Amino acid sequence: MRKKIVAGNWKMNKNVTDAQQLMIQLLRYKNNNATNCEVWIAPPALYLTMAKDVFDKGQVGVFSQDMSAYESGAYTGEISADMLQSIDAKGSLIGHSERRQYHNETDAQCNVKVKLALDKGLIPVYCNGETLEQRKAGQHFDVVKTQTETALFTLTADEIKKVVIAYEPVWAIGTGETATPEQAQEIHAHIRNIIAAKYGQDVADEISILYGGSVKPDNAKEIFSQPDIDGGLIGGAALKLEDFSKIIEGFNA
Ligand code: 13P
Repeated sequence: MRKKIVAGNWKMNKNVTDAQQLMIQLLRYKNNNATNCEVWIAPPALYLTMAKDVFDKGQVGVFSQDMSAYESGAYTGEISADMLQSIDAKGSLIGHSERRQYHNETDAQCNVKVKLALDKGLIPVYCNGETLEQRKAGQHFDVVKTQTETALFTLTADEIKKVVIAYEPVWAIGTGETATPEQAQEIHAHIRNIIAAKYGQDVADEISILYGGSVKPDNAKEIFSQPDIDGGLIGGAALKLEDFSKIIEGFNA
């Protein structure tokens, strides 16, 4: 059965003291509560080693928010897959819409990063999703198809099984406007069908597809109850344990 996951993307938030405090709160929560899903966080790169120290038994999976498409060398400001591997990070987000929007990342670059992450034993969380204009123009199915195919379809079946996909409609990120569970489900099913058409249903059924975009304590349970939604990638609501823990509990019976 595919993994259920709640992942927090902290984006560019929190100073070192606040980051450590939230990690320790999350550790206590994990130690005291059985959860029905894996819990992952993607803190700013500066705090990754601290996160590894806090979650030293792997209670929470530690991810970077991005990684370089290059292996090593003169790439100022970048962090490499090797560096992430060397701290035993679990993986990296790849192709988040904010990377696409503010750093002009393309699906072709994401393809290189996804492959590199897999080669280094890291889990790529490949993010895709349409903009508001694309949805209004009825292009969302095609946009997500192209994104998925361009970034992932050079992988072998064994490789793609290790990828986690996060569908994050850009219009729902940080806006308070959430895709309805039905809107999210139909795109998740669409992504799974695209993968099934190329790799077979068995492969597609193994891939966890997370929803991201204004997931909150009051809508998580309904979103997670959809058959093709395997969890969430949480932004704003991951910054407070009170909210994040309630979202994790969206997987409780
Ligand atoms: P919000 O939950 O703040 O909308 O952010 C979603 C997101 O971008 C997670 O990667």
